[in-house]
Amino acid sequence: MTEAVREIPLSRPWITEREEELVLEVLRSGRLSLGPWIERFEELLGERVGAPFAAAVSSGTAGLHLLCRIAGIGAGDEVITSALSFVASANCFMLEGATPVFVDVDAVTLNLDPAAVEAAITERTRAIVAVDMFGYPCELDELRAIADRHGLALILDSAEALGAEYKGRPVGSHGPSAVFGFYPNKQLTTGEGGVVTTHSEEERDLLVSLRNQGRSYDSRWFHHVRLGFNYRFTDLQAAVGIGQLEKLDCLLAMRSDVAARYGELLEGLDGVEAPLADDDDHRRSWFVYVVKLAEGIDRDAVLDELAAQGIEAGHYVPAVHLQPYMRERYGFAEGMCPVAEDACARTLALPFFPQLEAEDQERVVAALREAVSA
Ligand SMILES: Cc1ncc(COP(=O)(O)O)c(C=O)c1O
Repeated sequence: MTEAVREIPLSRPWITEREEELVLEVLRSGRLSLGPWIERFEELLGERVGAPFAAAVSSGTAGLHLLCRIAGIGAGDEVITSALSFVASANCFMLEGATPVFVDVDAVTLNLDPAAVEAAITERTRAIVAVDMFGYPCELDELRAIADRHGLALILDSAEALGAEYKGRPVGSHGPSAVFGFYPNKQLTTGEGGVVTTHSEEERDLLVSLRNQGRSYDSRWFHHVRLGFNYRFTDLQAAVGIGQLEKLDCLLAMRSDVAARYGELLEGLDGVEAPLADDDDHRRSWFVYVVKLAEGIDRDAVLDELAAQGIEAGHYVPAVHLQPYMRERYGFAEGMCPVAEDACARTLALPFFPQLEAEDQERVVAALREAVSA
């Protein structure tokens, strides 16, 4: 009998007894939602990213949507965002009736190219949704200067970037409201969930109302002062989040170590480009490990070969404007954002999570070597 190959997953959360204990405490308290754990989590998270206020919500997408609602984005408005992202960074304002204007990315950072953003501004532009893609901080100062010059709202989609630093300070601390996501592949997970960090108390109060069906934030339960949503975060999620926050530095360091090990293993492997290294202004928080294959390498054949060896890898990520619903609705097609399209066609994510063992990384890179030289 042949021995079955051990699967190496793309991603795995790192949950320990600490999260189990905290969740049990909440379960036994009898207060599963709208309890005291949420505020505790918000305070700790805000402190961690250097933002005075934070509002936890049911997902990163929900947080982005609420910021678009608060910015007053609506029908007839255009919003500029990155073609190389997850769909939520465009869906959040499309849900408010605005039109997406996809702009190309910088070939090196894979984040919004500020010059392309400025060139895309029209009299209908209302906002910019900037993304810290793959945990690498975007060009915040340039984008903020453009937004200020043209009177636009600037929303930061930092769903992938908890723990990243821009110009020596944590993403979230610089001013524009930022959204972090807590899906299980993220640096910190609560199963599902997200948080909006803000430097405005008024905005925090609005977020708290909007996430809870537009209730007033004083007292009476059935008192709704605006149209809102059920985008609530629960105390169970907060308990997991607090356990994760307590070890966030350790989780981030483990992720950095795994990334550094991949970097060493990939050295000298022709046809496979490792992710961009940090510089003085940008410190990545490692979210995924995305490599770029040289032109001419058949990416799907590489993925098939990895899968045959029990290694889960994936396209990361397809260009947003080329998704079927975008093509159908707006007629978007190839050629609109050539840099993003080229990156999206050639990148793939390797298994990546804090507890990934060195020997499994060696297996991944050996399989990759075989696949790209096939
Ligand atoms: C760039 C980006 N924006 C937004 C989101 C949305 O977060 P969530 O899945 O928590 O709604 C994600 C999640 O993967 C993301 O990667």
